[in-house]
Amino acid sequence: MAAPPLIEELRQAGGDPSRVLHPSTAGELAQLQPGARYKFAVLADGRLAVAPDPADAPKNKYSHPTLTNGEAVQTAGGIRIEQERGAIRKVIVDPGSSSYCPSTGSLQAALDALVRIGVDASLLRVDNRPPVCVDAVSSPAPSMTPPMPPPSTGSRYGALMQEVGHRFEVLGKAEKVGRYELADFELDELGEIFEEDLPNAEPPKENEGKVDLKGLADAFQKTHPPELAAALKKRDAAAFAVAFARAAATCNGCHRASGHGYVEVPAEPGANVPKLDRVPPGHGGP
Ligand code: HEC
Repeated sequence: MAAPPLIEELRQAGGDPSRVLHPSTAGELAQLQPGARYKFAVLADGRLAVAPDPADAPKNKYSHPTLTNGEAVQTAGGIRIEQERGAIRKVIVDPGSSSYCPSTGSLQAALDALVRIGVDASLLRVDNRPPVCVDAVSSPAPSMTPPMPPPSTGSRYGALMQEVGHRFEVLGKAEKVGRYELADFELDELGEIFEEDLPNAEPPKENEGKVDLKGLADAFQKTHPPELAAALKKRDAAAFAVAFARAAATCNGCHRASGHGYVEVPAEPGANVPKLDRVPPGHGGP
């Protein structure tokens, strides 16, 4: 279980996991201090877990994972109740959880849970504050089981490419030091972005009608991940270096073709992506 260190910290700060609320009626929910934001989670079984103190209370150590004992959740975030003469007037939920980093779409699970305990659906509001996410590589968050697929509106090409760049960089660094499992993982994720995400992404505006990004992404996907995977499987550093350089050349080919030649992907595993070292003298850049 992921949470014990956090629960220990909670106890040391005078908190107590048994004080976490599991409201099962709208009346219990109405006990929360009106207007204050509380952390909450929807557990895998659909129950609500709400911190006993407001999120901004001093020394509040009721982080999201302590609400859930570090287990998987359907969603997590903040909840605020507005009241008028003792009656709930509004229940506002938001997806702000740095440890679970839920999608706004997953908040549907919170709305469903609130309706199940008897909150009138017309009182529910969603506040789309941008969730603050912890760096997924340095500290893996407890897993989420989203109840709904992410919104289907095309995500932006540039954001996906940032992820491609990061994963390609970690792939090279991991292989170089023999962290093959991590390398396999990054390669899988990279393949998924090319296969599933990029084809549905909104292309950058300046590319309209210029380059066949879909065709190029497809060509990348068919050629390079299989080559890289084969070299990883054989633990063959030389073959990996060749496959890596070939993949980088395709990255750069598409960047040049689409007017992004200045995003240079290095050919050697282990280097940062994109290249950020000084342009050598006499080399005017791409
Ligand atoms: C199908 C064409 C294509 C391929 C293949 C491709 N890219 Fe890109 N890349 C783009 C485009 C287009 C942009 C600019 C996106 C924008 O302007 O929103 C970009 C931008 C980037 C950026 C800059 C993102 C940012 O916003 O800072 C990085 C990093 C990057 N690509 C890495 C890679 C890597 C690594 C590979 C190969 C593993 C790769 N790309 C393969 C088309 C491609």
